[in-house]
Amino acid sequence: MKLLVCCLLAITCCVLANVDKVERIMKLTEVLKELRHLNKSVEHNGVKLNTPTLDIEECCFLSALECFQKMVPRLNAKLKKLQRKVIKNLSPLTFRGVDSCSQEERENKVCQGCDSYPMKDSREFVQQLESLLQKAMNRLV
Ligand SMILES: *[C@@H]1O[C@H](CO)[C@@H](O)[C@H](O)[C@H]1NC(C)=O
Repeated sequence: MKLLVCCLLAITCCVLANVDKVERIMKLTEVLKELRHLNKSVEHNGVKLNTPTLDIEECCFLSALECFQKMVPRLNAKLKKLQRKVIKNLSPLTFRGVDSCSQEERENKVCQGCDSYPMKDSREFVQQLESLLQKAMNRLV
């Protein structure tokens, strides 16, 4: 009896962990879709934005993400509502589990400041953000 309960618990845990993972991947896929859609409504008129490079240091993923999130409002997008949605979804919550760093490790790490990332054309900025989302997804699968 005990063994059975144990087995059931183990199976339930395993299933739940996977459901959570699938949900996270789906969420990232959604954000990626929104970003591509938003990009279509952006007038790339030469505006330049601080753009994190993708050789992000260990435990600095969320810091780079924060920089992207801070810059997205500066995109000259027609679909304001979608723009707000993208900004909202670029939250650490969406990116749970993409790195294995603890809260403490993150706090102790000095990551590159947003201002120190190179200024890139808005087109390149979106491209880079897209790559970051893809990279995050690859880490989950
Ligand atoms: C964003 O849109 C521009 C055209 O306005 C296009 O050249 C670029 O490839 C698009 N970027 C992405 C990541 O879809």
